[in-house]
Amino acid sequence: MITTHKIIFQDSSNMRVLSDESIDLVVTSPPYPMIEMWDQIFAGQNEEIGRALKNNDGPTAFELMHQELDKVWDELYRVLKVGGIACINIGDATRTINSRFALYTNHSRIHTYMQNIGFSALPAILWRKQTNAPNKFMGSGMMPPGAYVTLEHEYILILRKGNKKEFKTIDEKKQRRESSFFWEERNVWFSDLWMDLKGTSQNLFDTKTRGRSAAYPFELPYRLIAMFSIKGDTILDPFFGIGTTMYAAMATARNSIGYEIDPNLREQIISKSSGIVDFSNKRIEERLKKHLAFADDRFKKKGKFKHANVHYLFPVMTRQETDLIINELLDVNQMDSDSFKVSYSDNPQEKYVGSRDEYVLSDAEKKDMKKRRTPKKQKKNHAQLQLF
Ligand SMILES: C[S@@+](CC[C@H](N)C(=O)[O-])C[C@H]1O[C@@H](n2cnc3c(N)ncnc32)[C@H](O)[C@@H]1O
Repeated sequence: MITTHKIIFQDSSNMRVLSDESIDLVVTSPPYPMIEMWDQIFAGQNEEIGRALKNNDGPTAFELMHQELDKVWDELYRVLKVGGIACINIGDATRTINSRFALYTNHSRIHTYMQNIGFSALPAILWRKQTNAPNKFMGSGMMPPGAYVTLEHEYILILRKGNKKEFKTIDEKKQRRESSFFWEERNVWFSDLWMDLKGTSQNLFDTKTRGRSAAYPFELPYRLIAMFSIKGDTILDPFFGIGTTMYAAMATARNSIGYEIDPNLREQIISKSSGIVDFSNKRIEERLKKHLAFADDRFKKKGKFKHANVHYLFPVMTRQETDLIINELLDVNQMDSDSFKVSYSDNPQEKYVGSRDEYVLSDAEKKDMKKRRTPKKQKKNHAQLQLF
């Protein structure tokens, strides 16, 4: 299997080279309106924004900044396939303008706009940020009522274009089954509250680089891509930054396209490409190891499993996980200054191929269990019947 990855150094408010309905999933994080580090970018897109900020007119600046983002949301609606999903990571902003402290609710402004242009909102995720900021307490310290609640979370808005995606051909169905995730992963990933992102596997970029570029943790796009797309799909990030989404797409065997307005980021993006094979394979091994530990623990508590994975032979909780295979990365090649190709193994990692007999019920055992579990024909409960 091979995937391709392309970065386009242009403004994503016009993505004319992308055809209508050509993208399967969007995972992105825009510059946050009313957060000072992005003032300049917004002011460069519309000089009225700079003027509003100079005039201390927060609400006007907020609205104009969002009107710049709206152009990108319009484009996303055009390029997404029917059934395709957009995951938008966004935080609200607090800012004091003219001695007036206020919250600027970026998440609700974007959510409302996207629904107005036709997206359906799906349940969103809140994730807990790493907060080690010294100014954790805002406002009047210990004295009521002038102290403010600290923002320690961000949102991942999840929106779909049209109805659920359909998988019609035999190939599509096979690819979907092979892209499934573990039952125990689903229980964590599909919670609307992610508290564990800071504790998860190390990041590809160091903390300083991530801080300067406002990059999200690798685990965030990694999970979203695994949750909402299948292998071979195309993932778009219209606010590419240092490329965390692209690296997560590489790690999950999806293709990707990114738009970035700042060409100065090129070097940082490319500098990490040679490390992506080892980095991804470590994350994949971590998933497999965790699954084996989960299976072992569950086996000790509940006995044999009903299902075995056909590639790894290890036990899995549900029939949906039986074809799951997480492809190991083999190598990454830079095709030109702004594109890459990644190749993958089609075989399961040998180290994790086990034997099913010890942990999984045989067909005879399953039959026997079924027999013992089938309830005897229910006796008619005359007392109850008389009531009706
Ligand atoms: C919050 S950062 C994204 C960080 C990214 N998620 C990562 O992990 O590296 C937003 C990025 O969008 C870029 N940007 C802002 N407006 C843009 C536009 N209209 N078109 C393309 N890129 C834009 C900024 O230069 C910045 O790098």
